Amino acid sequence: LSFHLPCDSAARAVGADLSAQALADAAVRRGLGVEIRRNSSRGLYWLEPLLELDTPQGRVGFGPLTAEQADSVLGAVLGADGQHPLALGLLESLPYLAGQQRLLFARAGLTRPLSLDDYLDHGGYRGLAHALELGEEGALDCVLESGLRGRGGAAFPAGLKWRTVREAAADRKYVVCNADEGDSGSFADRMLMEGDPFLLIEGITIAALAVGASRGYIYVRSEYAAAAATLEQALAIARQRGYLGPDLRGSGRELELEVRLGAGAYICGEETSMLESLEGRRGEVRAKPPLPAVSGLFGRPTLVHNVLTLASVPTILARGAPFYRDFGVGRSRGTMAFQLAGNVRRGGLVERGFGLSLRELIEDYGGGCASGRPVKAAQVGGPLGAWLRPEQFDTALDYEAFAAVGAMLGHGGVVVCDDSVDMARMARFAMRFCAEESCGKCTPCRIGSTRGVEVIDRLLAAGDAAERGRQWSLLRDLCETMRHGSLCALGGLTPLPVLSAARGFPADFGLDPAIVE
Ligand code: NAI
Ligand code: SF4
Repeated sequence: LSFHLPCDSAARAVGADLSAQALADAAVRRGLGVEIRRNSSRGLYWLEPLLELDTPQGRVGFGPLTAEQADSVLGAVLGADGQHPLALGLLESLPYLAGQQRLLFARAGLTRPLSLDDYLDHGGYRGLAHALELGEEGALDCVLESGLRGRGGAAFPAGLKWRTVREAAADRKYVVCNADEGDSGSFADRMLMEGDPFLLIEGITIAALAVGASRGYIYVRSEYAAAAATLEQALAIARQRGYLGPDLRGSGRELELEVRLGAGAYICGEETSMLESLEGRRGEVRAKPPLPAVSGLFGRPTLVHNVLTLASVPTILARGAPFYRDFGVGRSRGTMAFQLAGNVRRGGLVERGFGLSLRELIEDYGGGCASGRPVKAAQVGGPLGAWLRPEQFDTALDYEAFAAVGAMLGHGGVVVCDDSVDMARMARFAMRFCAEESCGKCTPCRIGSTRGVEVIDRLLAAGDAAERGRQWSLLRDLCETMRHGSLCALGGLTPLPVLSAARGFPADFGLDPAIVE
């Protein structure tokens, strides 16, 4: 019998290691020889630990598998009909998976993260091979044509950034992968690094070759210890097999990649703070220009991209720009890894071409609130994202459609709340978060966020409507100042969750709907 059980840290957090041990023990007791492969997670997190069994029809699943149930599942597998309360049937037929368009996460759940052979057997390094055939300009053109935009949140066209770095003259260039995934509700970067590290390494390699970089860093937040350890091992394997180092794959090109750990600051996900941190200084935002693409790490041209942007590149090179462009809508091309979290029945990873609605994501995939209560709101794009009301859930998940309703898609994290949540407290939390995480460089953010908490407190404590109106007016003005006067997105975007919460849910603030518009 050949089983698969994820080694992903989210699966381990809910007991995957104990379940694996219990299954192995149960097999010994029954005198059975079983193989339990620790593969990556499929991202169906509400089913973790998700046990899979190879059958002639495909993989069948059992989940969530507690250690206590391991023996009975084994019994069911050995029985005539395989029936068990945890039985899920064929994994590929589960609607949650069957409806997805997995390019980034095509190997999720199928391969062992640190097996380069598994990676190669599942199409790995075909992108690099094609990039080497196309040459540097050809590879860059392919990414430009694909329409790929930065997946960290800002959605800047990746190919244009590559062109800027490539055309900058310098003795050395860098590529830096931003793996400081700090948004609430997001976990796709972590899942990818833990589950398919060679995909990221291949993506960085193609990008580095195309822009002329010879050194690269993967800046991983320190909370992602398992991802960092996996990457370190994967880098060593890639180096050993000639996929990194001098003369990689006989191309005559050199690339060295290293992992660097952050130290727990949200602002180090902002690209210039991250560069400061990489250079050994305190994570503080640098004024732009110069853009990192022109003068970045150690003053050299630097290609900075989020994990998912770089991990999209091998598929684009392997299958061609037209294939990739075929997914998505409008100017949002390709697929996006949406991450469903918070109070949601079926939390997990949903990779689809841009264009499905937020409602499809929360209701069809997510199944509504885990508490069984009605959904009150969803925050899309991290702690700096807008709160959307259920009436807005038909908005298509694409960059432009979200911008049109005053929201942002960001990194694709979605946090769902039920009707017991007080949105005034969530608005206060956003200001408090900004005050905690501000790098302190500019006044609107450093001082404004602290004043913002105070104004919200006064608004909520106000005894009459006139005083509430005065405080609301102050809050609105303060938000305007933060929006226009902040140096970076932390101070600039904090007004988004604050104002969207107040405008969407004025009753929670004791405000008259007529004055919040
Ligand atoms: P931005 O719009 O200033 O820049 C986006 C990227 O494009 C940067 O790498 C920038 O250097 C580059 N760029 C801009 N113009 C360019 C040009 N002409 N040539 C070459 N490159 C150019 O946005 P920023 O401040 O880097 O990011 C803000 C976003 O970050 C927000 O929208 C938010 O969604 C997201 N965010 C993501 C988080 C996460 O955990 N993934 C956390 C917090 C914010
Ligand atoms: Fe620093 Fe905040 Fe200013 Fe950004 S907005 S530079 S985090 S003080």
